[in-house]
Amino acid sequence: MYIIKTILELQNLLHQNASVGFVPTMGALHEGHISLIEKSRLENEITVCSIFINPTQFNNQSDFEKYPVTIDSDIEKLIEAKTDVLFLPSVNEMYPTGMENIPIYDIGYLDTVLDGKFRPGHFNGVSLIVHKLLNAVQPHKLYLGEKDFQQCLVIKRMILLQKLNVEVITCPTLRDDDGLAKSSRNTRLSAEARLKAPLIYNCLYAIKNNISTIPFEQIQQSCVQKLAQNGFETEYILLANADNLEIMTDFDDTKKMIVLIASFLEGIRLIDNLRMN
Ligand code: PAF
Repeated sequence: MYIIKTILELQNLLHQNASVGFVPTMGALHEGHISLIEKSRLENEITVCSIFINPTQFNNQSDFEKYPVTIDSDIEKLIEAKTDVLFLPSVNEMYPTGMENIPIYDIGYLDTVLDGKFRPGHFNGVSLIVHKLLNAVQPHKLYLGEKDFQQCLVIKRMILLQKLNVEVITCPTLRDDDGLAKSSRNTRLSAEARLKAPLIYNCLYAIKNNISTIPFEQIQQSCVQKLAQNGFETEYILLANADNLEIMTDFDDTKKMIVLIASFLEGIRLIDNLRMN
């Protein structure tokens, strides 16, 4: 595996005509990331993974500082997965003129709901870094995990508005045996919290089982309560149209429905989602 630290070196390496699949990450790699690498390897001649903890997408400084860094084991996992290239840039490489006065992306409605509402500036930082990474890697296909469902829609919109020539492939969320969605942040949970964390998925699953017969608001309230009894502080549990994340008040089988949750456990923000139909 090539480990490349500058955009210039990357572009020298990737100048051939080979098809390139790209998996952007912030490291602390888990099976979810590896499943994206595997999909890319099946569909492209060259697979590039990036690891870059992007400062501009953290609306909370302590979340940025505590973001897990496990570069040595990440490299091992990438080699094992037969990744062709790891792009590992420095902050200076990605932000050579600093991080003040960064460009503003038109995220529209998506910036007003769910994570857009609760994490101001987050999706602008995501749009900016993914735009920069796509310019650097110039991939044919971009692989994203559906656990970050809203992020997938934001990135698709950025690609459309910037007229970038890349196909977005979204891949299903991978879960531990107890249902907890795989996430880099899980490594920060204490043993006790790790045992409680699957409650998020249990709630999503309970909502899916009951949404056609019980009013959504009622199930939503009981999930918020159950989570609170177990030490979670819930930011949102919302039902939305999976095509555009328009918030829905109740079950409507004529639309594609998704329920999304963001909840804090031991100060660690966990998100998850589940399609309802
Ligand atoms: O999902 C992530 O890990 C990040 O938001 C991404 C897409 C790598 C951009 O920094």
